[in-house]
Amino acid sequence: MSRNIKAVIPAAGLGTRFLPATKAMPKEMLPVVDKPAIQYVVEEATAAGIDDILIIIGRNKHNLANHFDSVPELEDNLRNKGDQGRLARVQESTELADIHYVRQGEPRGLGHAVLRARAHVGDSSFAVMLGDDLIDERDPLLETMIAEHEKRAAIVIALMEVDPDHIHLYGAAAVEPTDTPDVVRITGLVEKPAVEDAPSNLAVIGRYLLSPAVFDILERTEPGKGGEIQLTDALQELAADPEGPGVYGVVFRGRRYDTGDRVDYIKAIMQLAVDREDLGPELRPWLKEFAADL
Ligand code: G1P
Repeated sequence: MSRNIKAVIPAAGLGTRFLPATKAMPKEMLPVVDKPAIQYVVEEATAAGIDDILIIIGRNKHNLANHFDSVPELEDNLRNKGDQGRLARVQESTELADIHYVRQGEPRGLGHAVLRARAHVGDSSFAVMLGDDLIDERDPLLETMIAEHEKRAAIVIALMEVDPDHIHLYGAAAVEPTDTPDVVRITGLVEKPAVEDAPSNLAVIGRYLLSPAVFDILERTEPGKGGEIQLTDALQELAADPEGPGVYGVVFRGRRYDTGDRVDYIKAIMQLAVDREDLGPELRPWLKEFAADL
């Protein structure tokens, strides 16, 4: 299965919340159990039939590009030892997708990073996938978003109900229902509002199904929250356009792992590891004992 939809993964942030680990490495390369976070995102894209992926990179390009490339000496070494299991795990990331890279240059915000994808994306629809949000492969989201995007010929973004005390960390959406459960029409978007200004507790999570129309808007979007060019602001303009096809939201109720800050990152690793067949049986009893002593 291959679709005429490309994926864009912004990975040019400074990763300041994880210093010093991210001093010489993009935060998207931090391991979640035994795979870099960005590999989960690439796997999620390919599982939804997207095999053309553009990664927007910052100054630490090499780690990322090396990860998705082959390593002949390591592969020869494992082959000579007959270690087929590890060889397969090393080769997995090379064979996943057709991966391209573009530098963001100056880090001027998510909207600016997305704009850097314009030449590669051209006239097709594209998915923007943020590496801080990992979606459990057992609860597919992107497939549903693609189906809604195709059905409505409109932009579709992923939303999730969050505790109102956390809405200031996200883009927040004002919505009205549609005739499809868990699909809403977005009437307004605000980037990281204070709780009293938030239109709802529906937060934008890092999956967007966009059409190229967003590029023209991003070209003239002024810096917003935090002095950065915000994707949320461009989408708000499209949502407010009465002539346009509108912006829709898919409300996700599955398992999402936030790796954006240190505590959430540690939780994500534990949640994923206890569910793994190779690690869970050893980890679960230890974790119970450890927690009982806290
Ligand atoms: C970005 C977006 C925000 C969205 C969030 C999801 O913020 O600007 O609207 O809710 O991703 O993770 P960031 O977390 O990169 O500051």
